[in-house]
Amino acid sequence: MDNLLTMEHLNTTEIYELVQRASAFKNGDAKPCCFDDKFVANLFFENSTRTKSSFLVAEQKLGLKLIDFETDTSSVQKGESLYDTCKTLEQVGADVLVIRHPQTNYYDELENLNIPIINAGDGSGQHPTQSLLDIMTIYEEYKTFENLNILICGDIKNSRVAKSNFQSLSALGANVMFSSPESWKDETLEAPYVEIDEVIDSIDIVMLLRVQHERHGDSEIASFETTQYHEQFGLTQQRYNKLNDRAIIMHPAPVNRGVEIEDTLVEAPKSRIFKQMENGMYIRMAIIDYILQMEGATAK
Ligand code: CP
Repeated sequence: MDNLLTMEHLNTTEIYELVQRASAFKNGDAKPCCFDDKFVANLFFENSTRTKSSFLVAEQKLGLKLIDFETDTSSVQKGESLYDTCKTLEQVGADVLVIRHPQTNYYDELENLNIPIINAGDGSGQHPTQSLLDIMTIYEEYKTFENLNILICGDIKNSRVAKSNFQSLSALGANVMFSSPESWKDETLEAPYVEIDEVIDSIDIVMLLRVQHERHGDSEIASFETTQYHEQFGLTQQRYNKLNDRAIIMHPAPVNRGVEIEDTLVEAPKSRIFKQMENGMYIRMAIIDYILQMEGATAK
């Protein structure tokens, strides 16, 4: 693995290796390598709290030096292209780039770069590091993926998390189902669509997705009914009460409280939402460590 662009690029062996490495960092069995001769730049062309801050912490725990880059104060504002921006960072000494960009498959235009790219989310395409932290969180709970029944619920069409997780969790042996309003279905993903109330008492994991208004048109935003959506597709207390004893709730966050999930359930006993964020830092340490080791970096 020289880049991490989509979950399709990772085989199940690599997924397990990354989760084990992240777990070792988490429980103290692995000491972070010191990459203090390596430079990283984080390029976030879309807003982020979790992904950006957890990369920042992970990078500093690994000893990397940060190249200060903010889109607002960079020459992106003068019209510089993504490729020229990244090539410039490569030339000034970046050893790895972490990129979030609103354009799906933005990385296609970066294939002439000679440094690794970690995709921190591309439009409605993929969010591989989120998928890996989700996998880590599920593995901590169940120690297997075989035959787990996973319901991904919400704005499937616009969700990079749904796409990445459908691919990876299916490959790992889970049964992935979707539930969504008709207009947010993604028929390119071959998962069955179900009604949440048909399956709520038999699923192992319910993964709620944020309603992504920033990717919706004006008429779609105007016609959106929060209460109706919450009643049809949200995790209500009534549905929570029907979950089986071992079932868990996940959400990539940020959460629209009262829309995808009832406010009081965000930190309910079955919720792993904040655990996902904690695991995100460790999985990002593991990804950077893996990629830089593959690049031939030597641990001190
Ligand atoms: N889950 C996720 O990607 O969150 P941020 O947008 O805050 O990074």
